[in-house]
Amino acid sequence: MNTINVKTSKPYEVRVGKGLLKNIAREISDIKKPGKCILISDDTVFSLYGEAVKTALGEAGYTVYETVFPHGEESKNMETVLSLLTACFEAGLTRSDFAIALGGGIVGDVCGFVSSIYLRGIDFIQIPTTLLAAIDSSVGGKTGVNTDYGKNLIGAFHQPVRVICDTDTFSTLPYEIYTAGICEALKYGVIRDKDLFYAIGNADIEDIVFRCVGIKADIVENDEFDHGERQLLNFGHTFGHSIEALSDFKISHGHAVGLGMIVITRACEKAGLCESGVCAEIEKALNAFEIDTNITYSAKELESYAMSDKKRKGNKITLVIPEKLGKCVLHTISTDDLEEFIGL
Ligand SMILES: NC(=O)c1ccc[n+]([C@@H]2O[C@H](COP(=O)([O-])OP(=O)(O)OC[C@H]3O[C@@H](n4cnc5c(N)ncnc54)[C@H](O)[C@@H]3O)[C@@H](O)[C@H]2O)c1
Ligand SMILES: [Zn+2]
Repeated sequence: MNTINVKTSKPYEVRVGKGLLKNIAREISDIKKPGKCILISDDTVFSLYGEAVKTALGEAGYTVYETVFPHGEESKNMETVLSLLTACFEAGLTRSDFAIALGGGIVGDVCGFVSSIYLRGIDFIQIPTTLLAAIDSSVGGKTGVNTDYGKNLIGAFHQPVRVICDTDTFSTLPYEIYTAGICEALKYGVIRDKDLFYAIGNADIEDIVFRCVGIKADIVENDEFDHGERQLLNFGHTFGHSIEALSDFKISHGHAVGLGMIVITRACEKAGLCESGVCAEIEKALNAFEIDTNITYSAKELESYAMSDKKRKGNKITLVIPEKLGKCVLHTISTDDLEEFIGL
C-alpha cells in the first residue's frame, strides 16, 4: 500500500493499494472510532461491494446505515441530495458521525456535498471505485450536483477525512469506463510528468494512481480554492466539455477530455506554442486504449460551446497550453480569436 498526504487546510491521507476493502475498518479506525456512519452508494457499486464494506465495518463495531441511489448522471441532483439528507436524519447521525462515499465520481460528489451541509458539515470518507474517481474526483474537496442550468453548479469545497482506493475494484469496471479514467491519467502526464505519460499502459495501475494523486495533491495544496494553478487540471477540458455536449453526452467525459487534449495541443503546435510531435504522442497513447481520436466537430462548433464555459471571464478565456510533454501553462486569449486559434 502507498500513502499520499494531502496538505490542504484540513490535511488527510490517500491510501492506495490492493485488498483494502476487506480491511476497511483497519484503514479508518485511527480517524473514526466505532460509532454510527452512513454508507452512500449507487445501485451498481452497492451490489458489487456494499455488503462486503458493511460486513467488515459491522464486525469491527460500527453501526452502518446505508442509502443507495440509481447510478448515472441523472441522479446527480438536488432531489438525490434531499433524499440522502433525509436518510441521515432518519439514522440520527450527529456531528461526530460520518458518511462513506462508495463509488465513482458521482457518488463521491453527491455524498461529499451532503456531508458538507448536513448539520453544517460532517466528516466523510471517499472510497473511489472508478479509475477516474481514484485519480481525480475523490481528492481535492470539490463536491456538488448538477442543475438544469449546467453541471456542478451547486456545491461546496469539503475535503474528505480519508481516501481509500482499493485498486482491486477496477477489475469489475467496463472497459469504456476504465479508459475514461486513462484519459485523465494521461492528462496528468502531459501537465506535469513525461515519465508518467509513458508509464500508462505499462506500469502497474496502483503505481499510476499513486503518481496521479501525487500530482493532484501537489496542485490542490498550492491552490485549494481554484484561483490559479488548479486550473492546470482543466487541460483538455475546455474543448472536452464542448465535445461532450456536442455528442449529446454519448461521448463520456473522460473520452471527451482525451479528444479535447488533441484539439488544444494541435492548435498550440500550429501556433508555435508547443513542441511539435506532442499531439501525435497523445493520439498514439489514446489509440493504444482503443479510443477513437477522430474529431468530427468544426472549430466553430467547438468554439460556441467553449464560450459558455464557466471559466470564461468577459471576452477573455484562459486556456491550458502544453509547451511540451510534462509541462503546461495557463494562457489567456480573447474570445474573438478563439475560433481562428482552434483552426481545425
Ligand atoms: N469533484 C471533482 O473534482 C471531480 C473531478 C472529475 C469528475 N468529477 C465528476 O465525476 C463524475 C464522473 O465520475 P465517474 O466517471 O467515476 O462516473 P460514475 O460515478 O457515474 O461511475 C461510472 C459508472 O461506473 C459504475 N461503477 C463504478 N465503480 C464500478 C466498479 N468498480 N465496477 C463496475 N461498475 C462501477 C457506476 O455505477 C457508474 O454507472 C462526473 O459527475 C464529474 O462531474 C468530479
Ligand atoms: Zn475531467
